Amino acid sequence: SASKQYRVAVIPGDGIGREVVPAALRVLAAAAKRFSFALATSDFDFASCDYYDKHGSMMPADWEKQLRPFDAIFFGAVGDPRRMPDHVSLWGSLLQMRRTFDLYCNLRGTRLIPGVPCPLRDPGKIDMVIVRENTEGEYTEMGGKLFHDTDREMVVQETVMTRQGVDRILEYAFTLAASRPAKHLTSATKSNGIALTMPYWDSRVAAMSARFPDVRVDSMHIDALCAAFVSRPASFDVVVGSNLFGDILSDLAPALTGSLGLAASGNIDPTRRSPSVFEAVHGSALDIAGKNVANPVGQIEAGALMLRHLGEEAAADAISKAVDAVLGRGDAAELTRDLGGKGSTTSLAEAVEKELLSA
Ligand code: NAI
Ligand code: MG
Repeated sequence: SASKQYRVAVIPGDGIGREVVPAALRVLAAAAKRFSFALATSDFDFASCDYYDKHGSMMPADWEKQLRPFDAIFFGAVGDPRRMPDHVSLWGSLLQMRRTFDLYCNLRGTRLIPGVPCPLRDPGKIDMVIVRENTEGEYTEMGGKLFHDTDREMVVQETVMTRQGVDRILEYAFTLAASRPAKHLTSATKSNGIALTMPYWDSRVAAMSARFPDVRVDSMHIDALCAAFVSRPASFDVVVGSNLFGDILSDLAPALTGSLGLAASGNIDPTRRSPSVFEAVHGSALDIAGKNVANPVGQIEAGALMLRHLGEEAAADAISKAVDAVLGRGDAAELTRDLGGKGSTTSLAEAVEKELLSA
């Protein structure tokens, strides 16, 4: 039978993006081999500070036309604050993709991998996904300033929630929760203090809940939710929040499970009209770039998220299982420095690749 082929645009970007992306690609190639599908990758040098130096912009004018045909975009990291301000590099690249492709769902998975030191004493089994609304909410340019530089100086910033915007992120979160064994969704709110938008959010959660009778739903105020992430992280499965609440939770969650180098993220268009972008949570880490010491696991897990989005769930599960096996056996020769090892980006990726092919 004809095997499936996926077209993937590869954008390494800056710093350790150029090291962890090739390392993760060898693991993805191994997964493709074992599960009989093909990944047709194309490399792009734009969305990097080197490209900017040569061309005076982060991306070519026709970047959208170049990237749109792909099934997904595998992205490293962008930014070099020594050469240009971060808002130039980020706004000129990743944020353009999020906006133009309407990647309204930001997904961040966090699980506690056996063998990885956890800052919590008795964490239990942490395995959760944060679903963040990525296009509206608290992050708008609506509002303004009056009476500049006077005693009456005032500033207003509006929060915008649209029914379409709220419902589409909730539908994604409920669908994801329904697909997982625990079938448990927690909604972040603050309707006791924010008296208009948050009760509206809660009412849309209640309405969507009627369509997903199998999913158990909890609503928690964001302050109590942050505390509960620390005191009982194992009790969460899928957590959905507005742009601001999701932003906060998606940094808190990976902080609970150890190294920044392990976390992965997806910027997703669930309608699949545009290619979704998959990346590690960390940035270009210039302090360790060029030394082959960066932890490739965040980028490898980003690859697993990408395969799951493309419909290759068994391959995605197998990658995460191989990562768990390698980190769990704790061989210092394989592990990177941030995990207490003596190995390299390459040695860790090769160990995961080998584990994946031997299973
Ligand atoms: P960073 O995530 O690059 O680094 C923070 C610290 O964690 C550094 O000490 C670094 O060495 C360490 N670290 C990060 N990833 C690691 C890995 N895989 N293995 C081992 N150690 C790792 O954040 P920072 O330093 O604030 O930002 C550096 C640049 O990256 C900036 O230009 C920033 O704007 C950009 N950035 C880009 C992102 C993206 O492409 N989405 C996300 C975050 C930052
Ligand atoms: Mg990144």
